[in-house]
Amino acid sequence: MDLTGHFIGRNIISFRDLTKDEIEYILQKAFEVKNRQHENALAGKVLATLFFEPSTRTRLSFEAAITSIGGRFFGIADSSSSSIMKGETLKDTIKTVSGYCDAIIMRHPYEGAARAAADVSSVPIINAGDGANQHPTQALLDLFTIKETFGNIDGLNIGLMGDLKYGRTVHSLSMALAHYNVKLTLIAPKLLRMPKDVKEHLQSRNVAYDEIECINEECKKLDVIYVTRIQKERFGDLQEYERVAGSYKISKATLADLNPNVKIMHPLPRVDEIDPDVDDTPNALYFHQAHNGIPVRQALVSLVTGAIK
Ligand code: CP
Repeated sequence: MDLTGHFIGRNIISFRDLTKDEIEYILQKAFEVKNRQHENALAGKVLATLFFEPSTRTRLSFEAAITSIGGRFFGIADSSSSSIMKGETLKDTIKTVSGYCDAIIMRHPYEGAARAAADVSSVPIINAGDGANQHPTQALLDLFTIKETFGNIDGLNIGLMGDLKYGRTVHSLSMALAHYNVKLTLIAPKLLRMPKDVKEHLQSRNVAYDEIECINEECKKLDVIYVTRIQKERFGDLQEYERVAGSYKISKATLADLNPNVKIMHPLPRVDEIDPDVDDTPNALYFHQAHNGIPVRQALVSLVTGAIK
């Protein structure tokens, strides 16, 4: 299918909205960008980065991505510096800012905020994380990193480990991987299991998955273990958080019992779920993964603004 020009004006809100062809097209463009085929593509384009929740990688990689291929950006890095503090609604903010730019990249603490913003925006909205719901640009860079590392995604055994309940990155990544022929192992304490709606999505696409509480013998088959931080900020009850804090960790000792070639991924930031002694092993992929945010976000911003067709 020829998708040339298909993404112009398109919102990127959730993996529920993306077909496999569309995902593959974005990844193909990201590989082209990484191979320097689209230098200066964003010349003349202005982007807004509205971050109403803390971020290091997503905001800074979007901003670095935009400027390094000729675009410009303005933004909010902290809701306390915006008129939201005076009681302005998100919808009024978006209606206003969409008149200033070619696309808006937004992170917000509330699930559904990106969709609500898209309803009133005159320019594309790229969801940079909405509460515990979705983080589609993270999942795209995760897919890109897996494909770059292994050459393909089909046929892989992938473990998702940690806070599968509140971790929006694993919700998006699960839905993304559901387009491929993969076997998933969901590794989480009972309190942090994958939500029912995400599992129903996997079932509807006939994705094989197991649910276990901690790493066991079967995990020797895994090609990738994607670890997530416990999302302390999303717990209504801090006592519940205390019950699961520190309940899983990857260290050099853990690696000794796994496939020697297993790749450890993490969207970052990490707290204590990957010991820093793993960082210098050939298994650690997480900082490389974070750096792949640049070509993937360059491709995405360029596609929705029409800078790349
Ligand atoms: N992976 C990720 O979303 O990191 P930040 O919260 O630092 O943006």
